[in-house]
Amino acid sequence: MTSYRITLLPGDGIGPEITAVARQLLDGVSRRHGFHLDFDVQPMGGAAIEATGEPLPASTLAACRSADAVLLAAIGSPQYDTLPRDQRPETGLLQLRAGMGLFANLRPVKIIPALIDASTLKPEVIEGVDLLVVRELTGGVYFGTPKGRVESEGRVRGFNTMAYFDDEIDRIARVAFDLAAQRRGRLCSVDKANVLDVSQLWRDRVDLMAQDYPAVALSHMYVDNAAMQLVRAPRQFDVLLTSNLFGDILSDEAAMLTGSIGMLPSASLGSDGPGLFEPIHGSAPDIAGQDKANPMAMVLSAAMLLRVGLQQEAAALDLEQAVDRVLAAGFRTGDLMAAGCTLLGCQAMGAQLLAALEDPQGGG
Ligand code: IPM
Ligand code: MG
Repeated sequence: MTSYRITLLPGDGIGPEITAVARQLLDGVSRRHGFHLDFDVQPMGGAAIEATGEPLPASTLAACRSADAVLLAAIGSPQYDTLPRDQRPETGLLQLRAGMGLFANLRPVKIIPALIDASTLKPEVIEGVDLLVVRELTGGVYFGTPKGRVESEGRVRGFNTMAYFDDEIDRIARVAFDLAAQRRGRLCSVDKANVLDVSQLWRDRVDLMAQDYPAVALSHMYVDNAAMQLVRAPRQFDVLLTSNLFGDILSDEAAMLTGSIGMLPSASLGSDGPGLFEPIHGSAPDIAGQDKANPMAMVLSAAMLLRVGLQQEAAALDLEQAVDRVLAAGFRTGDLMAAGCTLLGCQAMGAQLLAALEDPQGGG
């Protein structure tokens, strides 16, 4: 039987709760499709700080690099916000992305019809939205040097550097062009080329690459305009290509089109080696340990892991259909709750998802 090694990183806050649900579903779906998953649970983020003093122990990074795919729940908690930056959970995540060479972050945003009323935006604005944010993940201002804080002549100056090499832009642009070619053939590259030199280089490189993709319609948009267009007329977008910081901001904004950030998965990929799959949402420390978390973004991240990481398309579809079915049957976690629906906690939602997976014809 085909067997895969999955490194699981439950992390902090609601992470362990949603990881438990995803694991049950992955076990169920792998059994149905005749392959085996070996789970290797590793500490990361605040959980790793407690256990080892660092947010990304070398043993965790090594386990991730040697796995077939990595599934991460969420990291971070306010109690670590006062630690020196190199000891914070978020730094562990950046080290993991860099250490695994995960330069391409894919964040799909697709409206689920059953949830159209969960959005704060009008149904006619978001109906039919199906876009993909392709965010550069190991460069830009997140990693640029020099950076730091200096004191001189009685003033303090904090600074970071937004920088890209041409080849860093090229490799992420290629990912975006390839995906646009497989989708609806439209690519919008988002930058701030009217102000930033680094963005002008970005735009020049993307324009050059467009020559290799005559079937893809390329446009450019300034990031401030893109932020506006995302809530004004989001259906205009197919693939959005952007840098690390702009992608961080725009992907949270795009997530809210769907009404809940609790529904959105993501994939982070390198040029070879395993991918990292994680929900876009954070560790939600305010509801941690209360069995209130929405496990669906985590389950959909597991589906992306199956599809993109392990090429198990049929199993991925099964998980996605289980989510659709449970929503269509009116089951909701608190973040999505609406009149006439049935409120469930994290575990009960997991049980419904499992039931929908095991009995695809039954239920709603
Ligand atoms: C994300 C998160 C991270 C980021 C944080 C937790 C470091 O916001 O994945 O979008 O800024 O990249
Ligand atoms: Mg973010």
